[in-house]
Amino acid sequence: MKHLLSIENLARTDMEKLLADTVAIKKERGRHLKHPLAGQIWAMLFSKASTRTRVSFDVGIRELGGQVIFLPASEIQLGRGEPIKDTARVLGRLVHGAVFRTFAQSDVEEFSRYARIPTINALTDEEHPCQIMADIFTFQEKRGPIRGKVVTFIGDGACNVVNSWIFAAAKLDFELRIAAPKAFQPSAALLKRAGGKIVCTEDISAAASGADVLYTDVWVSMGKEAESAERIKLLKGYQINASLVRLAKPNALVMHCLPAYRGKEIDEATFEANAETIFDEAENRLHAQKAILHWIVS
Ligand code: CP
Ligand code: NVA
Repeated sequence: MKHLLSIENLARTDMEKLLADTVAIKKERGRHLKHPLAGQIWAMLFSKASTRTRVSFDVGIRELGGQVIFLPASEIQLGRGEPIKDTARVLGRLVHGAVFRTFAQSDVEEFSRYARIPTINALTDEEHPCQIMADIFTFQEKRGPIRGKVVTFIGDGACNVVNSWIFAAAKLDFELRIAAPKAFQPSAALLKRAGGKIVCTEDISAAASGADVLYTDVWVSMGKEAESAERIKLLKGYQINASLVRLAKPNALVMHCLPAYRGKEIDEATFEANAETIFDEAENRLHAQKAILHWIVS
């Protein structure tokens, strides 16, 4: 049985296959001949808010022939303290697969072990694998192979999205630069686990110089709201704006996983100037996740 719990544990060959399959799946949208989820019901278990992940999985599962039950954690017994492993054993007997957004990575892993149904990580505090598959697909769709390119992340360099980029860099052979204040740099242990060419710096100009992609994410991830004031103070300046874009390659892409907070991690003008790429990225969540769903049930 397959799961997609992290980029860390996704084999390079599977990553490459998923990226290639996404090309065909995007082209075929609206005239799919195959419905690999026909007769299946998938649970979407969410402990955190979501627009893109929720809607793109819901649409994708239906387009592949399946049906969806949306389960906000606060509305099921999980939210009142029923253990993950019991929730998992119930759902595992009733549905065919699960898409799970929550806090601890270990909760998604525990769920997959006990539910014994294909399980997809729809974001944890540690990883956001579906996002990174869609991001890499978006880059390649616009600029060709990512191998050998330079991706620069600006902002909270210790968040889930960065972690998934870190594990992707070694697997797909691109350089990842992370510009973040000291308090928000990735942990040494994680960098060691990942390997690959990763440069961590506090110098955003050096990190942006000659980059093929400038990428950012919110300064205050879900679950970190209590740290908002401190984060906004420390991350000030770690913003994608016109002067930073000028340092990157002339055809560099500006990407954002969304939701975006203008005036914080990106300014309004730079966001709007790159809206086409950023919303292609959001649309590509659907196509990339349909490739993941196809692969997971095959
Ligand atoms: N990028 C992303 O995962 O968005 P949502 O939180 O809206 O799902
Ligand atoms: N790092 C962000 C990603 C949102 C899609 C968060 O966890 O809130």
